[in-house]
Amino acid sequence: MSSKKIIAISFLCAAFGFVAFAPNGSAAQTKKPAAGDASRGKELFSTCSQCHSATTKDAGVGPGLKGLFKGKKMPATNRPVSTAVVTSQIKKGGNGMPGFASKYSAQDISDLVAYLKTL
Ligand code: HEC
Repeated sequence: MSSKKIIAISFLCAAFGFVAFAPNGSAAQTKKPAAGDASRGKELFSTCSQCHSATTKDAGVGPGLKGLFKGKKMPATNRPVSTAVVTSQIKKGGNGMPGFASKYSAQDISDLVAYLKTL
């Protein structure tokens, strides 16, 4: 192979690599942290629904979560209701509830919280 051809091929590879890489790079930079997706949260809630009702306030193993964010106090502990408190409850659990910090990503938990806000 002549050195001219090698230079031409390297140039093409570099140009192609740039085109292939650039859109990904810029997409990653402009991507905002996604807000909670309630419909995804609803699917994830299947893990919670073995202990919590989403349609009533009646207690199962844990308190019913209907209207959670419409109330002022957390149903079991009476802490003030907030995204931070509910997020921490999901991560840490406590008093009979397992923590989900190792099972769910931050995105999963924000999806779950978005779903709980619709109840
Ligand atoms: C194995 C049963 C179990 C599972 C699974 C479970 N919980 Fe709980 N949860 C409980 C119990 C028991 C309590 C009451 C804790 C207490 O008395 O402090 C509770 C309490 C809560 C509370 C109210 C906390 C408070 O401060 O009043 C929220 C909100 C909650 N859970 C959300 C969830 C979510 C969301 C999931 C799914 C990711 C989940 N739980 C999974 C058993 C469970």
